[in-house]
Amino acid sequence: MSGITYDYMEKYLRELIGDSKGIIKELEEFAEANGVPIVQKEAARLLEFMVTVKKPKKILELGTAIGYSSILMELAAENNVEITTIERDDKMVEYATENIKKAGFEDKITILHGDCLEILETLDDEYDLIFMDAGKGHYSHFLPHCLRMLAKDGMIIADNVLFRGMVACKDLMIRRKITIVKRMKNYMETISQDENLLTTVLPMGDGIALTVRRNENEKTGTAGTSR
Ligand SMILES: C[S@@+](CC[C@H](N)C(=O)[O-])C[C@H]1O[C@@H](n2cnc3c(N)ncnc32)[C@H](O)[C@@H]1O
Repeated sequence: MSGITYDYMEKYLRELIGDSKGIIKELEEFAEANGVPIVQKEAARLLEFMVTVKKPKKILELGTAIGYSSILMELAAENNVEITTIERDDKMVEYATENIKKAGFEDKITILHGDCLEILETLDDEYDLIFMDAGKGHYSHFLPHCLRMLAKDGMIIADNVLFRGMVACKDLMIRRKITIVKRMKNYMETISQDENLLTTVLPMGDGIALTVRRNENEKTGTAGTSR
């Protein structure tokens, strides 16, 4: 399990969410069988929830893998959102292209094949929702581009921000993950301390951070940023 919540809690919440159906279930089974990391069930439900509530017109996703989360968000938007998703792994791009076609979303979901660090530099659109789920050690590098392209009322959802608990507790640290964890801490500090941003962290799945812009008159918040 995740190292974030108690196993019994995770089990209970996953039971409440229940089994997926159709292509989503197929992709979950494929990911499980082939060791492809896709969003955990709780994060998947959160994405569906946010898309349903926010009704974004444009979504940017960093990290496509097999296209699971893109397809899930398109389904939640009832085919009404344009998704741009970035993936650098050739094989994943192949799988995702096939899956997106199978889901009938090839005119809605565009895969950009390459490294987020390079591709972000070339993008200049406005996105209502940005889902960060690639290059866990690079969220701080992605952030300025994401903020540059984030719509006024947009939201950044960043997955894996507690990184199996290691970001919050050094007793859980695995030595070879030290750099990623340090960088993730840096990301967490930036999004929590920047007085232009309002962030809340959900300790579920592998930890999910939700970030929006603060309104000018809201900059006297509770995050130690009071003026
Ligand atoms: C956790 S998986 C994405 C899962 C997907 N969002 C889902 O839930 O269905 C992360 C993906 O990001 C890709 N990736 C990692 N670093 C990247 C980078 N710097 N640029 C582009 N893709 C990257 C990996 O190849 C991997 O497929």
